[in-house]
Amino acid sequence: MKRYHDIVGDGGSGILEQVAEQRARIADGLAGVRHLVAVGSGKGGVGKSTLTLHLAGALGARGLRIAILDADFNGPSQARMAGVQGALFVPGRHKVALPRTRDGIAVFSMGSVIPESESLEFESAAQGESHTWRAIREFALLGEILGSFEWGALDLLMFDLPPGAERTVQYADFLGAFDSAQGGPRVSFLLVTIPSEVARGVVSRSVAALSKGSNRLLGYVENMSGYYCRDCDAIKPLFTSSEIPRLGIPCLGSVPFDPELARLCDGGIPFAQLGETPVRRALDHVAQQLLESLT
Ligand SMILES: Nc1ncnc2c1ncn2[C@@H]1O[C@H](COP(=O)(O)OP(=O)(O)OP(=O)(O)O)[C@@H](O)[C@H]1O
Ligand SMILES: [Mg+2]
Repeated sequence: MKRYHDIVGDGGSGILEQVAEQRARIADGLAGVRHLVAVGSGKGGVGKSTLTLHLAGALGARGLRIAILDADFNGPSQARMAGVQGALFVPGRHKVALPRTRDGIAVFSMGSVIPESESLEFESAAQGESHTWRAIREFALLGEILGSFEWGALDLLMFDLPPGAERTVQYADFLGAFDSAQGGPRVSFLLVTIPSEVARGVVSRSVAALSKGSNRLLGYVENMSGYYCRDCDAIKPLFTSSEIPRLGIPCLGSVPFDPELARLCDGGIPFAQLGETPVRRALDHVAQQLLESLT
C-alpha cells in the first residue's frame, strides 16, 4: 500500500512537506511527555471520561505531572467535568497555554471552544461526502491540537477517547507514529467496561481489534461495579451479571457507581473534593495499578 512518502508528483500542493511539517510539530509537542495513556472502551457511556479525569486527579495528588486531551471532539465531556468550559486560550511561552483544572491538571477539550448548544462541523470538500472527509479532518485537527499547545514536561498525557471500537483503532494507528520507538512518549491503552454482557461484548471487540496491531494494552477497569449507598455505607449490586468480565487482559480494579462522583462530574468539581469513600479508595487503587503497569 502506498504511503505519503511514496507519492510522486503532487501537482504543486506541497503535500509531502505539509505532512512532514505537521509530524515535526506533533513530535515537538510530545517531546516532553513520558507516557501517553489512551482511555478507551469501544462502548459508549461506560465512564471513560469520568475515569480519565478522576484517575488524573488521583495521580496528580501523588505529585505526577498530568494533562488530559479530550479526543472526543463531537461529544466533548472534559470541559464540563474538569471545570474548564469558559477557559480562555492565551499565549504561553512558545505556543498556546493550556487551561487547568482547580487542582492543576492541564486540559484541552473542544467543549472549551464550542458551547454545548452547538455541534462541531467538519467541512466537506464535496457536498454529501462528509463520511469520506470526517476522519481525515478529525485527525488533522488532533494533530493541530498536539502541535499547537504547550504540553510541556509530563509524566502522563491521558487521552479521553470517543466510543467505537473502530475509532479506538484509528487512534492507535495515529498515535503509533509518535510512539517511543519513534522517539515519542510510550503509548498504551486502558479500557473501561461495566459489568454487563452487552458492554463486555463490545469491549472484547476493542481488545481483539487492538491486539491485531503492536498496541500496548495495560488492562481494563470495571466501572459501575455495584452502587455505593451512602445511607448504609455499603456497595450494593447494580447489574445482575455477577460474573467477573474476562477480557483476556489484566483487570486494574473496579470502581462502584457513586451519585456523588456523578455530581462532581456535572459540576466540574475536582477529585480532591471527593470524600474518603470506597469510591475514592477504588480510584486510588486503580491509579496505583495503572502506575505499576506503566513501569
Ligand atoms: N463510577 C461512577 N459513579 C458515578 N457516576 C458515574 C460513574 N462513572 C460514570 N458516571 C457518570 O455516568 C455518565 C457517563 O459517564 P462518562 O461520560 O464518563 O462515560 P463515557 O464512556 O466517557 O461516555 P462517552 O462514550 O459518551 O464518551 C456521566 O454522567 C458520569 O458522571
Ligand atoms: Mg466520554
